[in-house]
Amino acid sequence: MISPNHMASMPVSSVVVLSGAGISAESGVGTFRDNGGLWENHRIEDVATPTAWQKNPELVWNFYQTRRRQLLEVEPNLAHIALSKLEDDVKEFTLITQNVDDLHERGGSTNVFHMHGRLRTLRCEISQKHEERMKKDDLGDDFLLCNCCVEPNRLRPDIVWFGEMPMHLEEIYEAVENCDYFIVIGSSGHVYPAAGLVNIANSCGAKTILVNFDSPANASEFDEIHLGKAGKILPNLVNDWLN
Ligand code: APR
Repeated sequence: MISPNHMASMPVSSVVVLSGAGISAESGVGTFRDNGGLWENHRIEDVATPTAWQKNPELVWNFYQTRRRQLLEVEPNLAHIALSKLEDDVKEFTLITQNVDDLHERGGSTNVFHMHGRLRTLRCEISQKHEERMKKDDLGDDFLLCNCCVEPNRLRPDIVWFGEMPMHLEEIYEAVENCDYFIVIGSSGHVYPAAGLVNIANSCGAKTILVNFDSPANASEFDEIHLGKAGKILPNLVNDWLN
């Protein structure tokens, strides 16, 4: 166990944070596995897959359009804001998120890697180019066409589905292999490669800290564990570290 103020003694600390759905829970964004991992009685694993998109694109499109519209109704919570404060005061800070919402950015974080994609952008199925499409006309039930091809093509959700390669892995491994502190917030530790990053951090000598409501599948990998709501715990932890 390291004392919370241990970080303050290393102003040149390099900090990497990995967040999961739990950090957005207090903003009203549902997590994946707290309510049995269901969306309208569909298993997420049955909706968030390339096969589902091929077989039933309307169902998958409706799932993501519903979540994209929800972005307009939710706000960052105290945990998102605490991370933005930590980023401002630490020499090197990298935020890796499994979340596809935009609450980290709206909470003030800047150096954010969305390893499972983003709801705000859509991706051309032909060119693979991403485009931000969050205007009112982009949030209906109809499929949308790209602006990047001469003959416009259908856009897909810019999400990494089960069986697809997560994004930004090179930058993510580089940051985790070279950090002094690796902090995981709000993740059940079920999905790899995200759940394995703590093992890399440990093997590279980082101090590993967890903030989570429940004890996750990979709890034994952490040097320090804080169980409870991130919106309650993180602001105090960040204040302890920085003062
Ligand atoms: N504060 C802190 N932790 C919380 C809170 C909270 N207020 N509410 C819930 N949690 C914790 C739960 O205890 C759980 O361990 O957040 C975790 C959420 O776990 P999941 O729902 O599995 O979400 P996550 O770990 O982000 O899932 C990883 O799985 O479905 C895929 O691609 C999807 O990115 C997602 C990935």
